[in-house]
Amino acid sequence: MPVQGEARCFDEAAARQMELFVQDFGRMYRERNDALREVTRAHHGALLQLSAAAELKDDDTGVHIVRIGYLAEALALALDQSAGYARMLRKAAPMHDIGKIGIPDHVLKKPGPLTPDERQLMNRHAAMGAEILGRSHIPVFRMAAEVAVTHHERWDGSGYPAGLSGDAIPLSGRITAVVDFFDALTMDRVYRRAFSVETALEMLAAEKGRAFDPAVVDAFLANAADIDALRCRVTLERPSFDDLIDSP
Ligand SMILES: [Fe+2]
Ligand SMILES: [Fe+2]
Repeated sequence: MPVQGEARCFDEAAARQMELFVQDFGRMYRERNDALREVTRAHHGALLQLSAAAELKDDDTGVHIVRIGYLAEALALALDQSAGYARMLRKAAPMHDIGKIGIPDHVLKKPGPLTPDERQLMNRHAAMGAEILGRSHIPVFRMAAEVAVTHHERWDGSGYPAGLSGDAIPLSGRITAVVDFFDALTMDRVYRRAFSVETALEMLAAEKGRAFDPAVVDAFLANAADIDALRCRVTLERPSFDDLIDSP
């Protein structure tokens, strides 16, 4: 049986051992989190590039998806959402049309009206987007998938793919639908010139309670000058994708 002094040495050695173990564990935990953050950022970057590629297929300069992020964030804040929610929407909303990568060019780029079959194929981009974004447990990708699959739902229930109506459509999708509509109207397309901001706002107001959530439209109209100024600023400054990538 060890004498008292030896027992104390034994306890001290055990305590030291435990301390080293806790330090090691802490370091491993930090390294694991750093690695996870890097992988998430790389994944997010790749998905944004894929979204940009999908958008280029649709004849855009690539800045539309960046604008959608910033405008969605501004509109979320105008709707009194938290800064955290709004920031996440800025990072998620740019991927709303990522599913267009899976739509054949002869449909996506068709200058004339689509046949019913082509329309059906085109409408699949919403669900395809959610599939590409996957069923991740990482919040920003979950929100991005939610936006992708709901940004063509309509407040009156006549949208696609699920025909959701009213509050059953997640707020992220309701907000993105409004900024997507406004931004698409105010940019030049191959088949038409951009509408003026005034005309686009009138067209938006006309869809209040039809395509879009009345509260979201009201918040947009009440902040239209600021939102439009932001649209112009993003177009001129073209912030990099880095500002849209999640950095937890
Ligand atoms: Fe879309
Ligand atoms: Fe869009």
